[in-house]
Amino acid sequence: MSLKEKIDEKKLPEHIAIIMDGNGRWAKGKGKLRIFGHHNGVTTVKTITEACAKVGVKYLTLYAFSTENWNRPAFEVKALMELLVDTMKKELPTLQKNNIRLSFIGNFNDLPEKCQKQLASTMEATSQNTRMNLVLALSYSAKWDLVQAIKNIAVDVKNGKVKEEEINDKLVNSYLSTHKMPHPELLIRTSGEKRISNFLLWEIAYSELYFTEKLWPDFTEEDLYQAILDYQQRERRFGKTSEQLSSKA
Ligand code: IPE
Ligand code: IPE
Ligand code: MG
Repeated sequence: MSLKEKIDEKKLPEHIAIIMDGNGRWAKGKGKLRIFGHHNGVTTVKTITEACAKVGVKYLTLYAFSTENWNRPAFEVKALMELLVDTMKKELPTLQKNNIRLSFIGNFNDLPEKCQKQLASTMEATSQNTRMNLVLALSYSAKWDLVQAIKNIAVDVKNGKVKEEEINDKLVNSYLSTHKMPHPELLIRTSGEKRISNFLLWEIAYSELYFTEKLWPDFTEEDLYQAILDYQQRERRFGKTSEQLSSKA
């Protein structure tokens, strides 16, 4: 039985989030420039996106560029932005064919104009697609998102739209850029690093975390299925006891 066949469709994560890490080390290991790793990382993005759609995942969020990544050398930032624009342009027919909708979380205004335009047009072109949502986290950080949410809540308290006593978990959630999606049940990070690097802090409060040594360009469809199978073997208790879960109390 293949790994894919072992996946229990009834226990599939609706939302998988991935910290795609290790492109630079992958390239260095081959004696190449970091950007060579980013180029090869795009191939993995395609493979994993299609695999997620195939198994029936509804949301796939990919951490592609963090707020902190702006601090990388200017030529790497430029090359990454160009790669993003080119990939969105080139992959539009595949997104359409696979019925995948592209969306975005992050600080749109900080992106170069070309990137903003390409992103806006790809999102518009795919807006009616229904099979899966591919969410790009670009110029994104969880703290950035929380700060913009808190500011907007403060504005709405001040103008009377929101009362202080109405501020609760649900309301805070509704001000985050992720408000339209379910929280990820599974978060994967490649490259052996075991940290979150400012990704989805609020949304992963109860996510299952999966770390793999594989560098992102080496991460395969089978590795994804392995991560899903690992997730399916876990007991998600949400603060309850195991006994409560088995008696459905
Ligand atoms: C992840 O790979 C991609 C981005 C952050 C854009 P890295 O570029 O972080 O690769 P390593 O971690 O240096 O190997
Ligand atoms: C996290 O990777 C950001 C993305 C994958 C886009 P980094 O490589 O930037 O993370 P740190 O700095 O090593 O934690
Ligand atoms: Mg890295």
